[in-house]
Amino acid sequence: MGRKVTKAIFPVAGLGTRFLPTTKSIPKEMLSLVDKPLIQYAIDEARAAGIKEFIFVTSRGKGSLEDYFDHAHELESSLKKAGKEELLEILRATNMESGAIAYIRQHKALGLGHAVWCARRLLSDDEPFAVVLTDDVIQGEPPCLQQMIEAYGETGGSMVATMEVAADKASSYGVLDVAEDMGAIVRAKGMVEKPKAGTQPSNLAVIGRYILAPTVMKNLNKLKQGAGGEIQLTDAIAEEIQAGRDVFGLRFRGQRFDCGSKAGFLQATVAFGLERDELKDEFADYLHQVMAMRRAAE
Ligand code: UTP
Repeated sequence: MGRKVTKAIFPVAGLGTRFLPTTKSIPKEMLSLVDKPLIQYAIDEARAAGIKEFIFVTSRGKGSLEDYFDHAHELESSLKKAGKEELLEILRATNMESGAIAYIRQHKALGLGHAVWCARRLLSDDEPFAVVLTDDVIQGEPPCLQQMIEAYGETGGSMVATMEVAADKASSYGVLDVAEDMGAIVRAKGMVEKPKAGTQPSNLAVIGRYILAPTVMKNLNKLKQGAGGEIQLTDAIAEEIQAGRDVFGLRFRGQRFDCGSKAGFLQATVAFGLERDELKDEFADYLHQVMAMRRAAE
């Protein structure tokens, strides 16, 4: 049985170059999927999983992301006066408890592992923690991180979210080397970051949800000292396996969208738009029309 996980790290210090020019002045995490910024989807998922403390690893130019979590008192009172209860509820759902959020700066984008390491002083030595990449937006019931917390309750160790990918896509991900396949959960005997085409140990790709043992932070400490280039989180997790500690992959139930890429973001917009009661009929009609016109033009 693993210890309860109550803290999550959200590394949001990347440059988001794939969304230039927008990301010149707007952090990628503030891009809106239908009407909510990516960061809100991540927060909602973490809250559902029982996370109480939210640690953002930010960088220059992320001011609007920090401001987003301030309570909007003026807006709330004018909505209240106008009797706009529904909007007020939407707004209040974004309010965070005082002291629940911490911001830490990553001064240089030295990699995901480095970003996670920047939060080390906000965790105690024996505390497991979650890492959530806001680029990966997941439709799932229960939400993906909650599925992981439940599975981790039985396994302990460290756990990564995994999904099956086509062989020609594996080189874009961290990939698990599977020791034991127990169905939804697999035990890993290795993990490689972006394997060269054809060398991937399995078709199980790691996506942006992690529950990590405190020893992973210690591994990052060592990598930090020895590092030249980017500090990879994958290497720190792989080191757990080499040291004989458990690392599991969970085949989560749900659909993941890579909102760090333009194509993934557009797909997520369609999927989340079609989920909304107030939008789905009009939006579905429009999509049908577009497809019919495309087919007619072919
Ligand atoms: P990405 O590889 O998507 O990089 O990072 P990026 O800079 O955000 O985007 P592109 O590729 O330039 O368009 C994956 C996640 O890790 C965080 C990013 O913010 C993103 O959530 N990250 C990456 C950091 O916080 N620090 C880093 O040094 C690198």
